[in-house]
Amino acid sequence: MKPGKNDAIGEELQSRHALLKSIWDIFPEKSISHPAPFPIELPTRCVYSILSDNKGVVIDPYAGSGTTLVAAKLLGLDYFGIEISPEYVKMAEERLKYCEKERIRIQMELEKHKVIKTFKQRKENGEWVGKFKKIDKEQQLTLIENKMVKSQQSSFLER
Ligand SMILES: C[S@@+](CC[C@H](N)C(=O)[O-])C[C@H]1O[C@@H](n2cnc3c(N)ncnc32)[C@H](O)[C@@H]1O
Repeated sequence: MKPGKNDAIGEELQSRHALLKSIWDIFPEKSISHPAPFPIELPTRCVYSILSDNKGVVIDPYAGSGTTLVAAKLLGLDYFGIEISPEYVKMAEERLKYCEKERIRIQMELEKHKVIKTFKQRKENGEWVGKFKKIDKEQQLTLIENKMVKSQQSSFLER
């Protein structure tokens, strides 16, 4: 993600936009008995990234098992679903009724949206900013040494 003008933090660096990149790795949904359910992380990410301050209504015209509606409800938004199959309408209604069971997955998804460091801070620390920064051999060795020390420290703490 790029900063705004003059290295200022751009709109895109607000926490809720933290995962707005082009490629998303999300596992397919296996626990819902609908032929093509979304993994709940998908609508959660889309809705959370776009709507803020609990404003807006989520409309899913092909609601299926109701995943998007459950995500909207757990995000505190109003929602509206349309579904042609009475069987899936029932399934969506059941999911909405017991949606609290799915809150943990929403929370885990939202955790990923936290911006811990800004682009500028990462750049200043020589950390990953989307492009590999050219460094000389000496800097490379220092980075490797630092990593080794950190991993030794964490394995020591685990004992
Ligand atoms: C790909 S599924 C959506 C799955 C949903 N995102 C979920 O997570 O469960 C598409 C759904 O659209 C419904 N559908 C198909 N044609 C429709 C129509 N004309 N109006 C409303 N629903 C329709 C199907 O019954 C099916 O459940």
